[in-house]
Amino acid sequence: MKKLGFFGGGKMAEGILSALLSGDAGFAPGDVIVAERDAARAAYLAGRYAVETTGDVRDVARGCRLVILAVRPQDVAQVAADAGGLLGAGSTLVSIVAGKRLDTLKELFPGVGKLARVMPNLAVRAGAGMCVACGDDADAVAKLLSATGAAIVLDEKHFDAVTALSGSGPAYFAYMLEAMAEGGEAIGLDKEAARLLALQTMFGTAKYLRESGAELGAFIAGVCTKGGTTAAGMEKLDASDFKAVVADTLAAAAERSRQLGG
Ligand SMILES: NC(=O)c1ccc[n+]([C@@H]2O[C@H](COP(=O)([O-])OP(=O)(O)OC[C@H]3O[C@@H](n4cnc5c(N)ncnc54)[C@H](OP(=O)(O)O)[C@@H]3O)[C@@H](O)[C@H]2O)c1
Repeated sequence: MKKLGFFGGGKMAEGILSALLSGDAGFAPGDVIVAERDAARAAYLAGRYAVETTGDVRDVARGCRLVILAVRPQDVAQVAADAGGLLGAGSTLVSIVAGKRLDTLKELFPGVGKLARVMPNLAVRAGAGMCVACGDDADAVAKLLSATGAAIVLDEKHFDAVTALSGSGPAYFAYMLEAMAEGGEAIGLDKEAARLLALQTMFGTAKYLRESGAELGAFIAGVCTKGGTTAAGMEKLDASDFKAVVADTLAAAAERSRQLGG
């Protein structure tokens, strides 16, 4: 019996698979089977990661105790209809499907022994993701998925907020990056240089802040020398409604997550 199966072998599944195979999670390629209906995609995964692949979700349900549900929300019902009945009391299903609540998943997969829900983000593909887990064995699931970057446990009631912040956040972050790069171009840099400077500055600052644990207000104050260049820029930013716009952005995403929930 394989140790780990995936329903769906798309972008997120690949990020998680890659992290679990390369980290200390204790999985070897021979332990894993991926059900992916796109034959070219399945062949790619088999070639790149040396894992077994199948076009039939039932092969995964029959052969694994731990299964990650990684299809798009609209495909979940079909997977449940095809393979749900094969997941028994000894199985654990970890869903990464956005918006599908534990109670809904329990209805779709009634026989499953343990059910956990995880909200990852796209950065799992770079080994620097943020995963939040809830449900059965959430601590163990978070520990496992820490191989993809960072992972914590939060109550499911926070999942709309989690979806808005870390789940949807990569797009907002890239938008800010785009604004920085375009701003760089507007003051004379060429496109390529502006993109690199913006990207490396955001990457390096996030890395520094994470590693140092610096308090954000103190960090900002520390780099704003009175009368200096950063202070001149910050003055403009501070006078704008930037923070309110960001707050509204997250609130809109959380509201959409609530609407889609179920
Ligand atoms: N992308 C993100 O940033 C993100 C963030 C957080 C959570 N999520 C969640 O992660 C899940 C996966 O997202 P993704 O971006 O990885 O999607 P994706 O790249 O479209 O991957 C899903 C894969 O599952 C395959 N599939 C669907 N039904 C199947 C079935 N019955 N049997 C076998 N394979 C099947 C799809 O094949 P076809 O292409 O043929 O349909 C596709 O290759 C989604 O539920 C999403 O809500 C995504």
